[in-house]
Amino acid sequence: MIYKRSATVCEKIEVGDTVSVFNGDCEELLKRMPSNSVDLTISSPPYCMGKEYEVGSDVEDFIAGHGRLLPEIARVTKPGGSICWQVGYHVQKNHVVPLDYLIFDIMKQCPEIKLRNRIIWTFGSGLHCSKRFSGRHETILWFSKGDNYQFDLDAVRVPQKYPGKKASKGARKGEFSGNPLGKNPSDVWDIPNVKANHVEKTEHPCQFPVALAVRCIRALTTRGDLVFDPFCGVMSSGVAALAEGRRFLGAEMNQKYLDIGAQRIKDLADGVPDYRPLEQEVYQPNGKDSVSSTPAHFISYADTVNTAVS
Ligand SMILES: C[S@@+](CC[C@H](N)C(=O)[O-])C[C@H]1O[C@@H](n2cnc3c(N)ncnc32)[C@H](O)[C@@H]1O
Repeated sequence: MIYKRSATVCEKIEVGDTVSVFNGDCEELLKRMPSNSVDLTISSPPYCMGKEYEVGSDVEDFIAGHGRLLPEIARVTKPGGSICWQVGYHVQKNHVVPLDYLIFDIMKQCPEIKLRNRIIWTFGSGLHCSKRFSGRHETILWFSKGDNYQFDLDAVRVPQKYPGKKASKGARKGEFSGNPLGKNPSDVWDIPNVKANHVEKTEHPCQFPVALAVRCIRALTTRGDLVFDPFCGVMSSGVAALAEGRRFLGAEMNQKYLDIGAQRIKDLADGVPDYRPLEQEVYQPNGKDSVSSTPAHFISYADTVNTAVS
């Protein structure tokens, strides 16, 4: 094994040579990693808001930490490889700072790293704010190293909205106009976040869903590639990597989270995965599910039209 790891944790989570974790500070791990060795880094760092697992508690800590970290992540990324950095907002007293702005700025230090998409990850649940609109999205900045980068669109196509639609003019008039494999999933991803009743919920306060990592992994890597998560928590990205036939390397300071992650990896290896598939449809409330709790002013658009024409 190349990396020094905590013996107990490694013993628990190693699945062949496929999954490895470092129980410690990711900056220490990065110092030992060779340049150009990672195909995809996917991670969600601490937002520095004073949570139990965070060292810093303000934006300056976030900027300083990322100023050291991001050039190292760029160094270990293979040419053609990718970095998906998932962040939200630093919120204090209803004052919000979009963390992806800061990441974009810091990444300018690395001229070979190019931003390809700013993906909006939207979800239906969260805190209900009373002094601003409730936050229902975070972002994923997808960067690639160099211009000759891996991107397999066919691996992540989604069903078309109008599959029977045909071209009305031109050489292809009368033929189906869409791609039979489906359409581009776009840069707005509606994937439920991991809250109370979610099948993936553990005691970690800020997991991202496995499905979010799955889409990045399918589009940006091929089987056997190495996926890296420097802040791997309960190893949601590790579960995604293993499920998709990729190798995984993670770092996590907190042994408790690694133990939970180890169990998730073991469950998957034993054939009892416990995660929400990317393909599972998202529940869309139609305003009619619970008549008693739907206030009268929530008349749906369809009802309005029906009333108008009747
Ligand atoms: C936002 S959480 C990531 C959760 C992860 N995506 C998941 O689904 O479980 C950030 C994680 O980084 C860990 N962490 C904080 N500082 C770290 C560091 N310097 N090195 C490694 N892990 C760190 C925290 O313990 C926390 O679990």
